[in-house]
Amino acid sequence: MTKHILVTGGAGYIGSHTAVELLAAGYRVSIADNYINSSPKIFERLKIITGEDIPHYEIDLCDNTKVDELFAANDFDGVIHFAGLKAVDTSVAEPIRYYKNNLISTLNICEALVKYKVGTIIFSSSAAVYGQPETIPIIEDTPLHPANPYGGGKAMCEQILRDMAAAFPTIRVALLRYFNPVGAHHSGLIGEDPHGKPDNLTPYILRVAVGKLPELNIFGDDYQTPDGTGVRDYLHVVDLAKGHIAALEHPAEAGQAPVYNLGTGRGYSVFEMLHAFEKACGHTIAHRIAPRRPGDSGTSYADASRAERELNWKAEKTLEEMAEDGWRWQSMNPDGYDSPIPQQAPTT
Ligand code: WQD
Repeated sequence: MTKHILVTGGAGYIGSHTAVELLAAGYRVSIADNYINSSPKIFERLKIITGEDIPHYEIDLCDNTKVDELFAANDFDGVIHFAGLKAVDTSVAEPIRYYKNNLISTLNICEALVKYKVGTIIFSSSAAVYGQPETIPIIEDTPLHPANPYGGGKAMCEQILRDMAAAFPTIRVALLRYFNPVGAHHSGLIGEDPHGKPDNLTPYILRVAVGKLPELNIFGDDYQTPDGTGVRDYLHVVDLAKGHIAALEHPAEAGQAPVYNLGTGRGYSVFEMLHAFEKACGHTIAHRIAPRRPGDSGTSYADASRAERELNWKAEKTLEEMAEDGWRWQSMNPDGYDSPIPQQAPTT
């Protein structure tokens, strides 16, 4: 029987790419989203890619009654919980709103899992829970020192799920700590389209490349790194999506809530990323050196060997593929999901 997975935040960047991989792997998918950082326009595009009309529900997951109604009306076998606010800077300015949204939504999902005997939850956590770690590459057992309410909220949600797994061992839990997802589905039909000015590096680079923003501000070139700019562990969003399928297919032991770093195990600097995207788009991308961003660390990348060992998952796509796929998405959709649905891939 096809397993039915609820993807919360499934209209978003990682959620939509994961929905595509779930359907390709033979799962049935439903999506719940409030479109605070996504667009319902994605569903027409997901149908072109998958051939499926994915059932989708506009819902505030902080509304316990609505969450209960959703689970009562469906036979979910599992949940992949992406939904959440994720802008680090905003979380510092608005900690209460961030903690309320990200924790209450997760608690409502947990309550429904128990009530409706849903057997699995895969949680979208983040490398942000580590803060500025002492040792690189980062292993999962590193002590957590989240440096902002976004990372703090993710760490709290991990604890909630750990305690739920212990109390309700029939619910299998996996906690996936993402490093830096980049790129897009090869069709160019779906990709990263944050509302407003992007916080993260690569959507910002792409908006400069396509002419929607004037120049990239490089936050500091005086870090202890090979070229002085920040180093991060960038992985292709499709590899990241496949990590969720791997987690579903390698369920945790009853009562456990294993943690997995999903990264590539190597870092690239801001300049390396910039040059990769310049190669992909075929022209230079305007940039300037700006002051460091408060809270940024110089270097962060994963030890992803546990996911390789236990989930049989490893990121495979190259930096060139991340840049080419990201550029194809952005050049075909200069205004993101507000662009007309492209008929064919551009000649690049
Ligand atoms: C990467 C590098 C910046 C923007 C984020 C958050 C969170 C998480 C993913 C989900 C750093 C530099 C960036 C810019 C720049 N998401 N930069 N100019 O900081 O590693 O963490 O990752 O969990 O969103 O934790 O990602 O893309 O913001 O920054 O120079 O305009 O690019 O200094 O070195 P980060 P990022």
